[in-house]
Amino acid sequence: MTNTKPVIMVTGRLGQLGSEIFDIAGNYPQFEFNFSDKDEMDLSSPEQLQAFFDQLKPAYFISCGAYTAVDKAETDKDTALAINATAVANIAALCKQHNTKLIHISTDYVFSGNGTAPYTEDEVTDPVNYYGYSKLLGEKAALENNDETIVIRTSWVYSTYGNNFVKTMIRLMKDRPEIKVVSDQVGSPTYAADLAQAIMDIVTGNDGFVTGIYHFSNEGVISWYDFAVAIRDAKQLNSIVHPIPTTAYPTPAKRPAYSAMNKEKIVNTFHIRLKHWKDSLHTCLIKM
Ligand SMILES: NC(=O)c1ccc[n+]([C@@H]2O[C@H](COP(=O)([O-])OP(=O)(O)OC[C@H]3O[C@@H](n4cnc5c(N)ncnc54)[C@H](OP(=O)(O)O)[C@@H]3O)[C@@H](O)[C@H]2O)c1
Repeated sequence: MTNTKPVIMVTGRLGQLGSEIFDIAGNYPQFEFNFSDKDEMDLSSPEQLQAFFDQLKPAYFISCGAYTAVDKAETDKDTALAINATAVANIAALCKQHNTKLIHISTDYVFSGNGTAPYTEDEVTDPVNYYGYSKLLGEKAALENNDETIVIRTSWVYSTYGNNFVKTMIRLMKDRPEIKVVSDQVGSPTYAADLAQAIMDIVTGNDGFVTGIYHFSNEGVISWYDFAVAIRDAKQLNSIVHPIPTTAYPTPAKRPAYSAMNKEKIVNTFHIRLKHWKDSLHTCLIKM
């Protein structure tokens, strides 16, 4: 099959980020998009990956598909590794074979969370949990196996699609007069629609495909408790939100106490305009 337009392959079509890219794909008629999720192309199948690459010969591969069950990854390690690391190595090798530019998404969980100032891209990694470890192996494989690779680390992703903190809070606060939310973990929320737009700005911008690692989230550093209160107030719900320490809410996978990331590199390189988390939260909530 010969394509007249450059093809952009996007995985994780049914996830938060993949869905947001799907929603704006129509704004880019110069490209032909191919969206897939597990049913069309299982990332753990090298044969399926190869077949898609051979057929589509993509100019860009936007890798949104991932194993994102953070707590489950602590026990389901093989699957987390297979999807977040081995599959990414295969994807990157296929990108090299086909001259494909790869944009791969990673996470703030590659850091320990013991920091006190926003993490820069070249700061030492020390994953806080197994999911973070599998994602770190994935970003390394993406960069090592294909020269034309951009890795974007993001954090606290939410959207009108998929499962996320914003939806969980709204559901709980509609059901319960009082809820408890952790107040000693701080970081930056990311509205998946903003990241989707940033990715397409990189692809279509005039700054070139400047390879390497970048950090992206919305502006502002808050706790989960702050985020929950803002969601409650914006939705005009009445639930009382109590701040609690992490020790009062144990989870199978450890979470970082501090995971804010420095975003100067992506702003300066690609002239991306970052939105404040509160503005983006309101934009998202209007659609819910
Ligand atoms: N969500 C966050 O807070 C967050 C934070 C930092 C970084 N990230 C990263 O950002 C990226 C996008 O995250 P997201 O929130 O959009 O994730 P998401 O909503 O969980 O979407 C991921 C998609 O990948 C699919 N998938 C899982 N295993 C697959 C396989 N074997 N083959 C093909 N597809 C498979 C999932 O399907 P199923 O749902 O059926 O498994 C899901 O549709 C990921 O790389 C993630 O690691 C996310």
